[in-house]
Amino acid sequence: MTAGLRWIPPLLLLLLGFLLVLNGSRGWIGSERSSGSRNGGASRRSLREASANATSADASLEERAVTRAAEAAVDDPEEVASTVLTTIINSTARRSLGYLSCGSGNPIDDCWRCDPDWHVNRKKLADCGIGFGRNAIGGRDGELYVVTDSGDDDPVNPRPGTLRYAVIQDVPLWITFKHDMEITLKEELIMNSFKTIDGRGVNVHIANGACITIQYITNVIIHGLHIHDCKPTGNAMVRSSPSHYGWRTMADGDAVSIFGSSHIWVDHCSLSNCADGLVDAVMGSTAITVSNNYFTHHNEVMLLGHTDSYARDSIMQVTIAFNHFGEGLIQRMPRCRHGYFHVVNNDYTHWEMYAIGGSANPTINSQGNRYLAPTNPFAKEVTKRVDTDQSTWKNWNWRSEGDLLLNGAFFTPSGAGASASYARASSFGAKPSSLVDTLTSDAGVLSCQVGTRC
Ligand SMILES: *[C@@H]1O[C@H](CO)[C@@H](O)[C@H](O)[C@H]1NC(C)=O
Ligand SMILES: *[C@@H]1O[C@H](CO)[C@@H](O)[C@H](O)[C@H]1NC(C)=O
Repeated sequence: MTAGLRWIPPLLLLLLGFLLVLNGSRGWIGSERSSGSRNGGASRRSLREASANATSADASLEERAVTRAAEAAVDDPEEVASTVLTTIINSTARRSLGYLSCGSGNPIDDCWRCDPDWHVNRKKLADCGIGFGRNAIGGRDGELYVVTDSGDDDPVNPRPGTLRYAVIQDVPLWITFKHDMEITLKEELIMNSFKTIDGRGVNVHIANGACITIQYITNVIIHGLHIHDCKPTGNAMVRSSPSHYGWRTMADGDAVSIFGSSHIWVDHCSLSNCADGLVDAVMGSTAITVSNNYFTHHNEVMLLGHTDSYARDSIMQVTIAFNHFGEGLIQRMPRCRHGYFHVVNNDYTHWEMYAIGGSANPTINSQGNRYLAPTNPFAKEVTKRVDTDQSTWKNWNWRSEGDLLLNGAFFTPSGAGASASYARASSFGAKPSSLVDTLTSDAGVLSCQVGTRC
């Protein structure tokens, strides 16, 4: 994840501004959807004015995103974390009481997977989130859009039917796929707000090219995609909405890059082997849930927080639940800065260096996870404080509750998390880590068939 805003207002923005003036503010540049000027007077405005406005439109997009993120962060993250726990406890109790003939105890899955008509009721998924990203509605209030074309020939003027055409639209869309496909993106897939990408029922790979960028937007759900072998791309023009495209500098090759964005939910994806992070969230992003994913074959898995000095990331609130951190992983599951991170009921079966790390005083609340340490005697510690003296990190609130620590794994608590009063106050009876197996057994992309329970 690179520093800074990666849109460069290019020389060509002058041209863009000019075309926008000619087209009216929402026209597709060079496409038949250009509907002519809405305002005859606009075309008489000077080029310089138009280009100044294109730049200030970018700035106000950023400002709006920052305000939205500040509003999306909750005042009391402990309350959200404790609701997640109650939801899990209720859901696992329902399962053992046999109320649901197909309940797994996983509250997200039990919310929709028992419905044999899930493919008709796809939007139900939007009501099933938990944790900080629970209010992400994605494209719930929009139409369905079916991707029929796996191509990505022109990232500035994407063809209707492609995934890129769908994700840049200004209206909410619930995006599905006509058939199995592998999509190799030429440039980053720069999403617009209020979109769900729903891979259920088909086998969709976003692979071997650029991957997903969620920048200065809100309300995105990404569900059921294989995202892997993402490569650095950039130094190219890319469209981000019907009315905006611009020059992108190099992207690092994250599978999912979240930048200045809020209300984001990544669920049941299989992520592996990318040039940079698998899910990275930075620059004041918040209200995020990362759940039910299967992570494999990767070094720096999740970076949450931009730099130690970027204090705006203190609004970052992320729930990490029911994921399987599997074979071939090395570190950063996640690596946190500032913010509040609730890591609950995940299965850590492989790490080479450490599982959870951080710097710059993040709060880490680890509950009911299963941590299986590697055989290397020097890599048994779950936690790592990055480049910080103990005299400083001893005050960071890192706590472990109900975690199952196997093969010599140990979690070093600190701050309030290390105090005896925390241990007393926080005993929540049930030991959900004994259920991690069942809760995460279907992590990653599901193979759902139309017409039967998924
Ligand atoms: C630029 O923005 C200003 C302030 O919003 C507006 O008054 C002006 O008409 C805009 N100019 C153009 C060319 O759109
Ligand atoms: C859990 O179940 C209890 C008892 O049925 C109910 O009062 C509570 O609202 C439930 N909480 C959640 C978060 O589901």
